[in-house]
Amino acid sequence: MAILRIQNLTKEYSTGFLGKRFRALNNLNLEVEEGEIFGFLGPNGAGKTTTIKMLLRIIFPTSGTAWLLDKELGEAPDIHKIGYMPENPYFYRFLTGQEFLMFYARLSGMSSGEARKKVDELLEIVGLTYARKTRLSDYSKGMVTRVGLAQSLITNPSLLLLDEPMSGLDPIGRREIRDLIHQLKEERKTIFFCSHILADIEMLCDRIAILNKGELIKLGTVREILSSQSPDYIISLEGLSEAALEEIKGMNIKKYEVIGGFHHFTAPSQEDAQRIAQRAMADQGRIIELRPERGTLEDYFIREVGTRE
Ligand SMILES: Nc1ncnc2c1ncn2[C@@H]1O[C@H](COP(=O)(O)OP(=O)(O)OP(=O)(O)O)[C@@H](O)[C@H]1O
Ligand SMILES: [Mg+2]
Repeated sequence: MAILRIQNLTKEYSTGFLGKRFRALNNLNLEVEEGEIFGFLGPNGAGKTTTIKMLLRIIFPTSGTAWLLDKELGEAPDIHKIGYMPENPYFYRFLTGQEFLMFYARLSGMSSGEARKKVDELLEIVGLTYARKTRLSDYSKGMVTRVGLAQSLITNPSLLLLDEPMSGLDPIGRREIRDLIHQLKEERKTIFFCSHILADIEMLCDRIAILNKGELIKLGTVREILSSQSPDYIISLEGLSEAALEEIKGMNIKKYEVIGGFHHFTAPSQEDAQRIAQRAMADQGRIIELRPERGTLEDYFIREVGTRE
């Protein structure tokens, strides 16, 4: 069942005093299924936060609509079932982490006993128990991210909208948050999150959407997206004569490197790699390795987004 359904969602902002309109999101359509971890990717200014803010009714669409947990944008939402972690959380600086979470827990209608229990549990989950009595103004960026994530979990929501949940975290922190997100998935929660840390997305997401300048440019699993790319071929050789080396360098190759005494060539197709192999073998060269390389999501992202001016 689609927990989140976005239909033709469009947002235009008025910019400048002449009221010129700028389209930050153009006709977005997508569905997120129950229990999915869905990554919403895009470079700065792609329209990710704009989308999340519309889903939360913080700003209003110019056109189009969406359904969250079967409630359309115009209807009263099940706010307790939706958790939100903002991109640049502004927190009450003089509260401690514990007080801050208590405030939200009480606001959500919990008794003080329930709230205390929930807050202790969440502080433990996000690894902030040790800093519960520290003021938020003394928290590091990573600690602010963690407390923001704890806040989004207070009502035990079934749908989480997380805007850059890994930002400011060191590699260990990112790993912990990734593990936590996996754990939330096991509890059948649906997680929709924005990020540009592509390695995290590759490891975490069931499906991803790539947004650029307000347009959806790709939707699918990481595997689908990467396998739609034709791979490069890496061929590593040793024992080449000068003549063979020079000849191969003149063939259709993308890259040539010498690493640890081996000659590594990157060829754009299997046929090119085979031609290189034949030339090397004709000269008693040895093939150390010949393999396709699909590249990472990061390569894909840079290629697709980096060239779209
Ligand atoms: N209130 C606003 N008024 C005018 N333009 C806006 C407003 N909010 C956002 N924009 C513009 O809309 C575009 C999309 O912004 P948005 O914040 O949604 O991007 P994003 O994908 O979240 O980027 P980032 O990765 O930097 O967080 C940007 O060009 C931004 O400058
Ligand atoms: Mg943003």
